[in-house]
Amino acid sequence: MALIKYFLFQWALLASVAFSVPATGTQYALQAEAGGAGSRGQQQPATQRKLRGRFLHITDLHPDEYYKAHTSTEADTACHRGRGPAGAYGAETSDCDSPLALVNATLDWISANLIDSIDFVVWTGDSARHDSDEEIPRHNKDILAMNRRTADAFQDTFSDEKGLVVPVVPTFGNNDIYPHNILMPGPNDILKTYTDIWRSFIPEAQRHSFEFGGWFYTEVIPGKLAVFSLNTMYFFDRNAGIDDCVHPSEPGYKHFEWLRVQLQSMRTRGMKAILMGHVPPARTSAKQLWDETCWQKYTLWLEKFRDVVVGSLYGHMNIDHFLLQDTKEIDLAIVEGLRKKNVVSRETMDDDISIQSSTDYLKELRDDWARLPDPTILEQDVEEAGKKKHKKKKGKKGKKKLGGPWAERYQLTLISPSIVPNYFPTLRVIEYNITGLEDAPSWVDTMRALDALSNRPAPEPELHELELRQEPSFEIGKRKKKKGKKPKHPNLPIPNAPEKGAPPGPAYAPQPLTFTGFTQYYANLTYINNDITTESMENDEMSLSGWNPGKHKDKTPKHKKPQPKKFAFEVEYSTFDDKIYKLKDLTVKSFVDLAHRIGKASAKSKALVKDDPESNKEASEQELESADALEDSESEEGEDGLEHNDDDDELDSELEVERKKKHKGHKKKKKKHGKGRKTWLHFLNHAFVSTRSKQELEGMG
Ligand SMILES: *[C@@H]1O[C@H](CO)[C@@H](O)[C@H](O)[C@H]1NC(C)=O
Ligand SMILES: *[C@@H]1O[C@H](CO)[C@@H](O)[C@H](O)[C@H]1NC(C)=O
Ligand SMILES: *[C@@H]1O[C@H](CO)[C@@H](O)[C@H](O)[C@H]1NC(C)=O
Repeated sequence: MALIKYFLFQWALLASVAFSVPATGTQYALQAEAGGAGSRGQQQPATQRKLRGRFLHITDLHPDEYYKAHTSTEADTACHRGRGPAGAYGAETSDCDSPLALVNATLDWISANLIDSIDFVVWTGDSARHDSDEEIPRHNKDILAMNRRTADAFQDTFSDEKGLVVPVVPTFGNNDIYPHNILMPGPNDILKTYTDIWRSFIPEAQRHSFEFGGWFYTEVIPGKLAVFSLNTMYFFDRNAGIDDCVHPSEPGYKHFEWLRVQLQSMRTRGMKAILMGHVPPARTSAKQLWDETCWQKYTLWLEKFRDVVVGSLYGHMNIDHFLLQDTKEIDLAIVEGLRKKNVVSRETMDDDISIQSSTDYLKELRDDWARLPDPTILEQDVEEAGKKKHKKKKGKKGKKKLGGPWAERYQLTLISPSIVPNYFPTLRVIEYNITGLEDAPSWVDTMRALDALSNRPAPEPELHELELRQEPSFEIGKRKKKKGKKPKHPNLPIPNAPEKGAPPGPAYAPQPLTFTGFTQYYANLTYINNDITTESMENDEMSLSGWNPGKHKDKTPKHKKPQPKKFAFEVEYSTFDDKIYKLKDLTVKSFVDLAHRIGKASAKSKALVKDDPESNKEASEQELESADALEDSESEEGEDGLEHNDDDDELDSELEVERKKKHKGHKKKKKKHGKGRKTWLHFLNHAFVSTRSKQELEGMG
């Protein structure tokens, strides 16, 4: 099979070279040429599309066919009725859903500005409205119809006359199903319907397995890079249709088995994988979104496949932020089903996230980050090793705390904010390293060459069936309620770790496919809707909890009929030149460093404040390269890095050191929170997509 595939790719490459025509920029325009469909099947030259090293992440569109401009943004009317400030392209900063005009304008803008510069699209779900108007309740039929309509619009946007040009990888959101949040184990009608709605996005060979579990992957760079669409409904704590990820009968268990087999296959084929889903593995010391057993398994899987996974992309939260999973929190007893819950019990996060609960959540993340080791100790270590200074021991310890020179103790989850204008509508374009892949055959060329052969490979054997036959026949207990006997030797297939001596993966060390940065685009609806006078903007006040009617709730639009300006996205910020984030790439280590700096704004870290790492940062920048060359400390970490340290002890002794320093008068007096505060406010400003004034952000804590 692999050989045949290899042959086909080679053939595709040759074919595209042999029949190539010069690519033109207009080739991918929206409108179909007359007779375009008729030419299908004739010997058509392949497009020979080149890789651009960029892709689009779009999420949470929430189109609402009942949205009407100049209606009320208040609860219960939800921009459907009454008179109020709802704008033509959406009611920014409110909890109203998106007008169809916004979805349409967004896709048109992408079509005009992005299509030629992106390689694929990651689309992380929620393409139906919320159930926020009692007068117009949601129905299954409408939810599916809106999803079909949106999927068709995506299909049109990313196609030429012969079909899809840019592969689109969709996934479910918790609002794409009815009743919301509840998805029963497959196969079922919902999964069957989505198999059809997304027929042009799900590879033919995987449609059957999609009906079974709602998961699939697309080789967005054939033979090199795949995007894995995870069905996070089976991990989601609020899904009453499932229990956990440890019982073999659970769809979450099967999902992880599928993922284990597929990622192993990626490793064997020398491929890398991007993971994506709707509900992220958000988990603070107080709250979480996934069932704990699923979080545990996910973190363990990512740890084992740290050589394969390039990055993890999610939506759902509507706020721009990121997460760091700590592999030291993996508890095998939970993964094996020997223990149900962690010692810390966390609440399930609220479904509709108000600005107040978002702020609380972000503060919890910040406080958790206050405990992160300082990655600059890696650089100090090198510096000191060179100068043979006495502090060497501390550097070593720091390196160990990070899980080696690449901070492999941690995993990064990137969460993009939404199109639905709870803040401003926003899009993310991520750039990745394509060194050495410049001439790799693109998805469209490969697919069309295969099509032209009209000899598609037979569907691959159903992996889930093969796998499940090997499953142990026992069940660990049965459902939650029946507290059964605990098996002594639970059959837990744990993924293989990277081969000994394998180099760090693209999420950890810069190399081909590593994410190098992203640009966040936003549409300033206050400007575009052109309804609110700037003078009246001054006394904006926000509602902190419950339904949010938005900044303009008491205002009257200045025009009788909406007179919006031309719709456009503009750059909100870019990690390539953000002077405060200072992310030289999107590797885990870069984000551990950022999170560490944000954590400094936490009261919890105040006692830990040392000489500002910013000041030795510049000097140590040059040392980074040599720090990277440090011998791999993985062996120290233990083969699988699962060994548990008591971090608190380490933290305490560090505190002790700091206190002693203070007494000696070595510590400079600093402004309360210092630079950490600046980084935190910058992060908060991005979280709310630049909709909040400086004073508002300051007031949040
Ligand atoms: C948006 O609407 C315009 C006008 O109705 C239409 O011409 C265009 O094709 C639509 N775009 C998309 C992406 O549906
Ligand atoms: C991309 O990867 C190549 C090969 O590993 C490396 O030389 C180059 O520096 C990387 N580029 C960036 C921008 O990280
Ligand atoms: C958005 O537009 C409004 C009205 O023109 C302006 O006052 C505001 O500063 C803009 N916000 C951003 C973040 O550009």
